[in-house]
Amino acid sequence: MPLRNLVITGFVGTGKTTVARILARRLGRPFLDFDEEIARRAGRSIPEIFDQDGEAAFRAMEAALCREWSTPRGWVLATGGGTCLHPANRAALAAGGHLFFLYADLNEVARRLADATDRPLLRLRPGETLLERLQALWNAREAAYRAIPHWVDTTGRSPEAVAE
Ligand code: S3P
Repeated sequence: MPLRNLVITGFVGTGKTTVARILARRLGRPFLDFDEEIARRAGRSIPEIFDQDGEAAFRAMEAALCREWSTPRGWVLATGGGTCLHPANRAALAAGGHLFFLYADLNEVARRLADATDRPLLRLRPGETLLERLQALWNAREAAYRAIPHWVDTTGRSPEAVAE
């Protein structure tokens, strides 16, 4: 019987990819990053997919990956920040693995992402601050995130400490 997958999910800017990579290395397990896999399959970056095909097309690719990863194979998976908002995606990933939700104080997320340009959903409206954008995104999503039972606070902690 294969080991369950370890699914590292969470809000934007909480270090999902970095933490998942460390976990995979320490446990000697293979690793897959959903955003990297989607970009690889599409032959384009995430912002290009959003701009050219729309968010719905990106979400469909995410949902397909979740279905592919609904069986236990012992991998460490890092999802995108919106992957586990959809109940069907959560259910698929939970069927094959353990889900961990990474979160952090939003002021810290804003500091970590101050120079990031690769997140279409964090494009600011006129006069909007990054913190305001993050807060709006969080408010819209918190109820869905609460459906994931295991939360890990990354505030003030290094990726190594979070992985530990
Ligand atoms: C998204 C988060 C991104 C990426 C896409 C959408 C989201 O992943 O999947 O831009 O909806 O929160 P990260 O959380 O790794 O930035």
